Amino acid sequence: MESARISHWLNLLVCVLLLLKAEGSSVPLTLVKNSETKGAVCLDGSPPAYHFDKGFGKGINNWIVHIEGGGWCNNVTSCLDRKNTTLGSSNHMSDISFYAILSNQQQFNPDFYNWNRVKVRYCDGSSFTGDVEEVDPTTNLHFRGARIFSAVMEELLAKGMKNAKNAILSGCSAGGLTTILHCDSFKALLPSRANVKCVPDAGYFVNVEDISGAHSFQEFYSEVVSIHGSAKNLPTSCTSKLNPALCFFPQYVASHISTPIFVVNSAYDWWQIGNIFVPSSADPSNSWHSCKLNLSNCSPDQLSKLQGFKSEFQRALSEVGDSPSKGMFIDSCYAHCQTETQETWFKSGSQLLANKTIAKAVGDWFYGRSPFHHIDCNFPCNPTCHNRVFQVKDYPGI
Ligand SMILES: *[C@@H]1O[C@H](CO)[C@@H](O)[C@H](O)[C@H]1NC(C)=O
Ligand SMILES: *[C@@H]1O[C@H](CO)[C@@H](O)[C@H](O)[C@H]1NC(C)=O
Ligand SMILES: *[C@@H]1O[C@H](CO)[C@@H](O)[C@H](O)[C@H]1NC(C)=O
Ligand SMILES: *[C@@H]1O[C@H](CO)[C@@H](O)[C@H](O)[C@H]1NC(C)=O
Repeated sequence: MESARISHWLNLLVCVLLLLKAEGSSVPLTLVKNSETKGAVCLDGSPPAYHFDKGFGKGINNWIVHIEGGGWCNNVTSCLDRKNTTLGSSNHMSDISFYAILSNQQQFNPDFYNWNRVKVRYCDGSSFTGDVEEVDPTTNLHFRGARIFSAVMEELLAKGMKNAKNAILSGCSAGGLTTILHCDSFKALLPSRANVKCVPDAGYFVNVEDISGAHSFQEFYSEVVSIHGSAKNLPTSCTSKLNPALCFFPQYVASHISTPIFVVNSAYDWWQIGNIFVPSSADPSNSWHSCKLNLSNCSPDQLSKLQGFKSEFQRALSEVGDSPSKGMFIDSCYAHCQTETQETWFKSGSQLLANKTIAKAVGDWFYGRSPFHHIDCNFPCNPTCHNRVFQVKDYPGI
């Protein structure tokens, strides 16, 4: 009896492993060379890292660089918390699999499968904007995100990206923000004749009042910018006019971005709702708890506040502009990061907007087959959404 059950579970395990193997492929971790001499290091002083899968066929001169996400650290305590994790040290990183926008199979990634595909690991806690020379010997924390970005790009250019014909900078969450903040500087590194575009995913974090009327997230970002010494590495088109801490928000830099950009985001991004609009500090009685876990549980009053959030989100998004070079796929699904998983990127049954998957919308826009600029109707109008439902233990905080 017992062994039959074990063999049943083993079979299941083998099936799952085979499925994983079919969709993803393991890509080794590469440590950036000479990073110590450049001072381009993770929070703990270890070398930064990336994963590289070579392009093939017609894709050999095309490059997609996808930046990993993972929030930010805003003070010594929260930065120290990262030191012994993958978000602060390459000593804790290992090989990963490439899926969705990084998949090497046409059936999963129709337009970019044969490109050179790179995933840059996130170990600085500042969306690659930090640069502080001094290292406090008691904490040994290094704030060097901007130097990491430069060092990784230098290595990729040497690996062939300097000959790129097509290139995309992309990334999810804090990596989506990196994509926005570094979009024009990425383009500037590549040949002027190359077709270079940016695709930030779930990186359009908005500066809005939370439900208690406080600006807690603005305060958080200003602490991030301060401890990492980020101001000098944020777009000067913004910092010359505004408080540099505000220039960490996409809405104050978006109108100055000259490189073509396609914003992928949910208008009801669960990370933003849980950490910007309804952070726990703004809901001491915890009355939003079940609504945040499952949007179907929201009261009419909560739903109407969420529609208000969507309106503010759209106003912030209008800064991107609406020329055909500015694309957007803003769905109304309770989601966060939709380019990294197959289910939300390109699969039968994926959420649609204007009858397109994200992969199709981005591919058509990138290659100039058709522009795409759509914002979904209000939740819960889109029947193709797979809205995230959280278990209490999985619910994320900053
Ligand atoms: C550091 O920031 C976190 C939020 O990331 C906050 O909870 C904590 O109180 C802060 N610690 C100090 C010492 O300011
Ligand atoms: C982090 O790792 C170092 C070295 O492995 C160890 O000495 C230290 O106690 C760890 N710190 C935490 C907070 O786990
Ligand atoms: C989400 O909430 C709705 C309404 O209460 C419920 O019908 C549904 O089963 C919940 N979803 C999950 C996965 O728990
Ligand atoms: C939606 O797209 C599918 C496949 O791309 C097509 O067959 C279908 O006719 C389209 N539906 C509408 C309403 O445009």
